[in-house]
Amino acid sequence: MTFQEGETVYLEDSNGKRTFLKVMYGMVKVPSLGAIDGSRLRDLDDGDQFTVVGREFTVFRPGALELMESLDRGAQIISPKDAATILMHCDVKCGDRVIEVGAGSGGLTTALLHAVAPNGCVRTLEMREDYAQRVLKNVSRTGLDAYWSYSIGDAREMDPGIDWQADVLTMDMPDPWLALPNLDPHLRAGGRLCAYVPNMNQVESTVVALRESGYADVRALENIQRFLEVHPGGVRPSFDTLGHTGYLVFARKRASRKG
Ligand SMILES: C[S@@+](CC[C@H](N)C(=O)[O-])C[C@H]1O[C@@H](n2cnc3c(N)ncnc32)[C@H](O)[C@@H]1O
Repeated sequence: MTFQEGETVYLEDSNGKRTFLKVMYGMVKVPSLGAIDGSRLRDLDDGDQFTVVGREFTVFRPGALELMESLDRGAQIISPKDAATILMHCDVKCGDRVIEVGAGSGGLTTALLHAVAPNGCVRTLEMREDYAQRVLKNVSRTGLDAYWSYSIGDAREMDPGIDWQADVLTMDMPDPWLALPNLDPHLRAGGRLCAYVPNMNQVESTVVALRESGYADVRALENIQRFLEVHPGGVRPSFDTLGHTGYLVFARKRASRKG
């Protein structure tokens, strides 16, 4: 399908530099490129070539990866490698309802929304209104804001303000084990949980709390990802390889539990 008015696309130059823009069938101001005639995009589709004042670009629709990489950042975002692992281990899919603790910059929110839309939703619990506002701007830019809502408060004690039970609960906060008693009733039986924490002692406290609460399939892992520099006759790990990001703890809720 050709590009529709209102959708977000990006222009990629021959060096891989990306410029994002919202499609408008009129004159559009594009940072560092000036004004371009957006109606030229009406006949183009994903991966087509586009010339602006003699410069060649490829126009792409962004996926979750490019949307995450191009967010306006304040707090550190969950990296795409960790977001991808969360989506798989929590089985996040179209139609799911997710409670997320910790808006941050909206990195994980973006990945979750991309997976659950257009039939599911994400409710984010966040302490700071300014962070939630940044995420609102970020998710509006991606066109996924219709599936997102947030509530301001402390996840350890707040009412999430929902009348449904979640399929998935994610917690990117320093002390997820303290929010568990408050949020557990909002996760459906069989639902999946992920806590993302930077330190091993936080992993221990989270795992202990989950085991004591009778959760099943409690497991913790770290993702190590190495990019490769590939040149003819010389292939080696990139010097820019991402080091430690965070630890992931996963678990699944049982319907009936001891205690
Ligand atoms: C590291 S950031 C989250 C980053 C986010 N996952 C992303 O990918 O952009 C942690 C967030 O959790 C919020 N937070 C920390 N403790 C909280 C609590 N008890 N209740 C609600 N939000 C909390 C912080 O204000 C911050 O926005």
